[in-house]
Amino acid sequence: MSNENHQTSHGKALTATIIVIALILVGGFTYELGRRHALGNAKTASTSQHALKRVGILQYVSHPALDQIHKGVVDELKKEGFVEGKNIQIFDQNGQADQSKLATMSEQLVNKKSDVLVGIATPAAQALANATTTTPIVLGAVTDPVAAGLVHDMKAPGKNITGVSDQPPVAAEIKLGKQLIPQAKTVGMLYASTEVNSKSQVETASKAAEALGLKVEKFPVPSTNEIAQTVQVMSDKCDFIYTPLDNTIANAMPTVTEEANKKGRPVINSVDTMVKQGGLATIGVNQYQLGIQTGKMAAQILKGKGKPATMPVYTFSTGDTIINKEQAQHFGITIPADLQKNAKLVTTEVGQQ
Ligand code: TRP
Repeated sequence: MSNENHQTSHGKALTATIIVIALILVGGFTYELGRRHALGNAKTASTSQHALKRVGILQYVSHPALDQIHKGVVDELKKEGFVEGKNIQIFDQNGQADQSKLATMSEQLVNKKSDVLVGIATPAAQALANATTTTPIVLGAVTDPVAAGLVHDMKAPGKNITGVSDQPPVAAEIKLGKQLIPQAKTVGMLYASTEVNSKSQVETASKAAEALGLKVEKFPVPSTNEIAQTVQVMSDKCDFIYTPLDNTIANAMPTVTEEANKKGRPVINSVDTMVKQGGLATIGVNQYQLGIQTGKMAAQILKGKGKPATMPVYTFSTGDTIINKEQAQHFGITIPADLQKNAKLVTTEVGQQ
């Protein structure tokens, strides 16, 4: 019995000790929890006050069209309330048409923990897509995002990529060429063999030309170096030249104009900027507007109002008819009355050259 009592008193002491320890532990833990909670709140408040959203822009190369798109993107972000240095940080890169630069720059933009990446022109968008499968990418003017392997479905992209496609009204452009140069029998396609965007557009354009009874000759150039000579050669074989939304050709448009003018061959383009550099005509999408639309989509993602996977790729259904009246005169072309009325007449702008 005494033994039992002894044990009980020991047991009581032990229980009391355990209770005291438990109380200390619980109290301390509760205190620590409260402290952490307060700290946590302070930390969240300070980061959200100073956090700058990060946007990485990768432009393939500089030519007037892409420069206008770039301006549209930045202007629209500002309009949507994203002011540089205040609540947004923009990392700007230009790949200067160099594949290895594009790859390195894409890595850098991803490593900077950009919230949104914008790829202007197909090769830039492809480089970004190779660098990340998670950071949202907005396509700035990619002609054919499916052919470029960037999205599976234009309406439901499904992954981290969406944006703006600048697919122009190709058949209408060829028809415009036929209308301005009615005696034409052969059209020559001038484009870079390296640009997937051009390949797909040239296919569509060739079908449209053949449907109008024109013969098609294709002249893919391996690089800028071959452009002058190719224009000379093709001018002997074709009645007019057609250029798709090709970055290499856009970059060298003054050379194209110079050679084609010498040979008396008009050039039908896919964008107004190239008509202002001496092309004859186009039905094109306004490049600045393309940039605005790209900026809108980037802003939507930054605001958490949309995710690329479920944002359809934006396409334009109309374009403006643009004719270079100076060039029409140079080739002795009379602009038909309906076009005189409905088209926008421009002249070659030296600043664009
Ligand atoms: N669509 C082109 C691409 O996918 C880029 C582009 C936009 C472009 N506007 C242009 C190319 C004007 C030539 C001219 O790469």
